[in-house]
Amino acid sequence: YRELKPFPKNFLWGASTSAYQVEGAWNEDGKGPSVIDARESYPEGTTDFKVASDHYHRYREDIALFAELGFKTYRFSIAWTRIIPDGEGDVNKAGVDFYRNLIDELLAHNIVPIVTMYHFDLPQALQEKGGWHNRASVDAFARYANVLFDEFGDKVKYWLTINEQNLMILQGEALGTLDPKLSTQADKKKNLYQQNHHMMVAQAMAMRDLHTKYPDSKIGPAPNIAVIYPASSKPEDIQAAFNYNAIRNWLYLDVAARGEYNTLAWRYMEEKGYTPEMLPGDAEVLKSGRPDFIAFNYYTTQAVEASRGDGNDEVVRGGNKLLKSGEDGVHRGAANPHLPRTQFGTEIDPVGFRNTLREIWDRYHLPLLITENGLGAFDKLDENGEINDDYRIDFLRLHIEQMQLAITDGVEVFGYTPWSALDLISTHQGCAKRYGLIYVNRDEFDLKDLRRIPKKSAGWYADVMKNNAL
Ligand code: BG6
Repeated sequence: YRELKPFPKNFLWGASTSAYQVEGAWNEDGKGPSVIDARESYPEGTTDFKVASDHYHRYREDIALFAELGFKTYRFSIAWTRIIPDGEGDVNKAGVDFYRNLIDELLAHNIVPIVTMYHFDLPQALQEKGGWHNRASVDAFARYANVLFDEFGDKVKYWLTINEQNLMILQGEALGTLDPKLSTQADKKKNLYQQNHHMMVAQAMAMRDLHTKYPDSKIGPAPNIAVIYPASSKPEDIQAAFNYNAIRNWLYLDVAARGEYNTLAWRYMEEKGYTPEMLPGDAEVLKSGRPDFIAFNYYTTQAVEASRGDGNDEVVRGGNKLLKSGEDGVHRGAANPHLPRTQFGTEIDPVGFRNTLREIWDRYHLPLLITENGLGAFDKLDENGEINDDYRIDFLRLHIEQMQLAITDGVEVFGYTPWSALDLISTHQGCAKRYGLIYVNRDEFDLKDLRRIPKKSAGWYADVMKNNAL
């Protein structure tokens, strides 16, 4: 038995969404196309993102519902292509007005906005010029960030730069970051690490500029971080876990939080021939962009074993994104036999959440914000018109319990915004894979009435938010 520390006063309880997965209105009011809109095909049986949850037209109703449930905060993303349709040209006033109204609506309900500046939906016009591989995207992002600060900086106090940049690099193929013309593994990786570097510089500029314009506002990165477990106590497996940890987590976070590359990760890139080109001045820019906190998305952990060097380390396995997780000579992905899985094959590891919180805190000593955590499931409306998602309540309870244990361990955590506030379209598995606290009445291809119905988990979570305790 251990006495638990309470959640801090004013803890930011709420939930999360991203623009393209929830808004719809993909081509309305001057919005330009993003890489998501330009996508030509979807996995069989899954919908596109054209209507999504129609939040663009229903945000007032949605926010009223968030307020009724007692959200203290709402984490959402701004679609770059609503603000600057081609990524770098004129500002679209209608897009600015939409987000200003949304932010005002949140503030009117005493809900603190946490804004992600970019969540996977790069303007297609930039993609056509080489996307993040093109150095010009750095300036385009820095300018976009400054437009956001100038328009909304007086109302928004918490900013997140780029969602899951580390996964956009590790899973460039799945997340559409990769140039499809590249064929060899070496060319793909080299290209991705150059993209990564450009995003790092762009992010540092945004952090630097916010601090100049609004010194009291807070900004941080929002990667997906997870503890890496060795599959056994074999020293070679432990070393493989160190290897993958350096590449998956610290390659990204050390630059974001300390302004410099992790030496193990840099050596890895050198040996493989993936080192990015750094321009004079980049090192200083990276150092100038200090985050006020670290936000991160947590779904599950990953186990790895030593590479067998047989060319077969890139096994596809379950996990949030059905990762290809291995790399010859570095590590090999392994299933974790100790963990149960969701209906979609993702391992469920609440203790890993505490482990991850501790590891990040220990390394950086910056306050932590959990920007995503959640369970994708085939929720069904029952004959009484209810969604009894007890499995989601169990999932959230177990994770919140571990978060409180981490706080008791001494980790500083100031908010939790699970995925997702309402049902939305999954990145690659359509709308049948539901994460929401609030049900949206639509099917993959039948939009029905898009009615909102709080699930059983929403009522349960409302009590947690109200009591600031489990
Ligand atoms: C995170 C993303 O990786 O996981 C979200 O930031 C995403 O955009 C969420 O929806 C769940 O993943 P998926 O693939 O099940 O939608």
